[in-house]
Amino acid sequence: MSDILIHTDGGVSTITFNRLDKKNALTEAMYSALAEAMQQAASDDAVRVLVIQGDASVFTAGNDIKDFLEHPPTSTDAPVFRFLRQLVTFPKPLIAAVAGPAVGVGTTMLFHCDLVYAGDNAAFAMPFVNLGLCPEAGSSLLAPQLVGHQRAAELLLLGEPFLAETARDIGLVNRITAPTEVNALALAQAQRLASKPMSSLLETKRLLKQGQQAALLERLAEEATVFARMLGEPAAREAFTAFMEKRAPQFH
Ligand code: COA
Repeated sequence: MSDILIHTDGGVSTITFNRLDKKNALTEAMYSALAEAMQQAASDDAVRVLVIQGDASVFTAGNDIKDFLEHPPTSTDAPVFRFLRQLVTFPKPLIAAVAGPAVGVGTTMLFHCDLVYAGDNAAFAMPFVNLGLCPEAGSSLLAPQLVGHQRAAELLLLGEPFLAETARDIGLVNRITAPTEVNALALAQAQRLASKPMSSLLETKRLLKQGQQAALLERLAEEATVFARMLGEPAAREAFTAFMEKRAPQFH
């Protein structure tokens, strides 16, 4: 069974993270599949709306730490960065259904979605500093825009986790429901969108996002350069090794 499942029906394409034994942590191969699936969904007329989901217990634990140590993304063309650029440029409505942990890119990808639905068990976190890293996916630009500098600093400097109600209060989440209902809610909203005129959906999304896209792509590139460098530095290596050894990291 693949770690990324893709299913298209009635104009709605659904991407499901399917690596539950590792909490849907995302490997290089999964990023590759995600980037390809999004590119395909963008160009395929049979796809009008895209949904990204996990399962009722977990959305994703973010980057696979072991895989990142073994295959660090060294160029801006690495699968993870191709996926992030797809998120910024994806032209059709993009919906996320989040239940359980949404760590790192599991949270930052949501800044790019048009609609986000959360289970009441959803737990968000951007712990990049705690891992010796820096923000990615344009979150250094989009988090302060959404919540202001000081609250963004709590989320990004302290890496403080936050729950579904906070995510809804700050505007990251549209609606909260039961964890077992969240994928169905996202699908129902996707089906509603898919029945609307496609040209209006495309133009509306383009107009909503157009002021931002160039700045975001520039920020993505800068974050990617710094992130890739920091992955090889002692703090990240200690944080990653500590995670795999199931111990607290020791930073010097
Ligand atoms: N990368 C690699 N493996 C991961 C992972 C990740 N990001 N997240 C979880 N896993 C693995 C664990 O190592 C464990 O593997 P094992 O069974 O072989 O020991 C398995 O998934 C289950 O994880 P576990 O931590 O036991 O589950 P939990 O329910 O107690 O906690 C999380 C879930 C998501 C809160 C926790 O796993 C976590 O904090 N993961 C790291 C998140 C992170 O820092 N991501 C990187 C962001 S850049």
